[in-house]
Amino acid sequence: MSKDSVTITDNRTGQSYELPIEHGTIRALDLRQIKATAEDFGLMTYDPGYMNTASCRSRITFIDGDKGILEYRGYPIDELAEHSSFLEVAYLLWAGELPTSDELERWTHGVRYHTMIHESIKKFLDGFRHDAHPMGMLVSTVAALATFYPEAKNIQDPETRKIQFYRLISKMPTLAAFAYRHSVGMPFVYPDNNLGYAENFLNMMFHGREPVGSLNPNSHHSPILARALDVLFILHADHEQNCSTSSMRMVSSAFTDPYTSVAAAAAALYGPLHGGANEAVLRMLREIGDVKHIPEFIAGVKRGERKLMGFGHRVYKSYDPRAKVIKYWADRVFEVTGRNPLIDIALELERIALADDYFISRKLYPNVDFYSGIIYEAMGFPTDMFPVLFAIPRTAGWLTQWRESLEDPDQKIARPRQIYLGPGKRPFIPVDQRVPSDHVNGIV
Ligand code: SDX
Repeated sequence: MSKDSVTITDNRTGQSYELPIEHGTIRALDLRQIKATAEDFGLMTYDPGYMNTASCRSRITFIDGDKGILEYRGYPIDELAEHSSFLEVAYLLWAGELPTSDELERWTHGVRYHTMIHESIKKFLDGFRHDAHPMGMLVSTVAALATFYPEAKNIQDPETRKIQFYRLISKMPTLAAFAYRHSVGMPFVYPDNNLGYAENFLNMMFHGREPVGSLNPNSHHSPILARALDVLFILHADHEQNCSTSSMRMVSSAFTDPYTSVAAAAAALYGPLHGGANEAVLRMLREIGDVKHIPEFIAGVKRGERKLMGFGHRVYKSYDPRAKVIKYWADRVFEVTGRNPLIDIALELERIALADDYFISRKLYPNVDFYSGIIYEAMGFPTDMFPVLFAIPRTAGWLTQWRESLEDPDQKIARPRQIYLGPGKRPFIPVDQRVPSDHVNGIV
């Protein structure tokens, strides 16, 4: 009868250890008993980038990277994208079940009445240069919200946690739209509680102006665009222990308030390898400029000179299921806005890459960021708003994961160990006895 355990023999001592296997893992702490001598600290694991380390047990999102499966609380992402709304999905993530119609109505009402932000926040935004990146403004202003809700520090109280969920889901679109309006020198457009979530955001963004770069100036009032944006918000709502969610969990493990923790998560998302990738994809497609330049660009990627942005994923080793849905919605958005010519370069880039062994052998497929920026640009969003459009819906995932970590008895403050390879103990040298050395990090 096979046992759910693994036996490790330490060849330094000949001693064997049996470690239990649970959920396909062994507890790292179980390795500490493996010592070469009695004074030994015991074995640790070395896992830069956490390539093979489970940081938590979660019941929120399931991903099967080989099969291209993504489920929120057991519901397949393509079914939620087809039948649900972002607010319904945010409720599902937090509550664990889809809301009844009465629950959805009360949840939606509550969100609509938290969309306003304190008037003082506008002073923060006015302090930014006109060309400040909106993600820098969002990270700053969401952190500033912590100073307006000091009671949010009471993170152990379930009711307090729930109120912050309402506030942040409601206020992120307002902060995002205000950051954009500041960048284009337009007056802020206040939330309209008669509008749906995505519709209200589009109105706060583009009311009174034609979206810059939009292929069809009046398209931003179209219900199809509001629905397309709502679907994009669903697709971006959560994605288990990605870099920004892990940052949320790590920062909040110190019992930091949720606003400051969301700011830290958004800061991680800002990186071009993560949520900043959709912005990088657009810049890459514009640089390629024409399908005839694709072979030369791909050659540069294969020489390791650059990455094919929007391709590859730590977990998905097949097509990102979100990219499939986004590709479907691209055509529907273009029916309203006009076709974004960059889509032709993207489609040809995908076709060539998926036939090239460099990408096949590395299991590199389009991820969620490969097509999303093309839709956003067709809708009239400027490129630097793209990571902001990622942060708005991901706030639902960050906060749900935050609450789950606080309720998890296994969790404690995150404090990884290290392998020390620096100099051993040495005596202090008085400054008049020091000689110049060729240390690579010299600053003078
Ligand atoms: C998101 O984690 C999540 O869930 C994130 C996310 C979410 O919803 O939260 O899904 C959102 O962040 C999507 C990813 C967006 N980022 C990009 O599109 C940037 C481009 N992609 C790469 O930087 C990369 O694929 C990562 C960062 C996404 C994943 O990197 P890994 O898992 O650390 O893989 P790796 O860098 O070790 O790559 C393995 C090999 C390497 O080649 P070799 O050294 O073996 O020769 O694949 C190559 C890499 O050079 N490679 C790429 C590539 N991605 C990996 N080569 C060219 N272009 C790429 N995009």
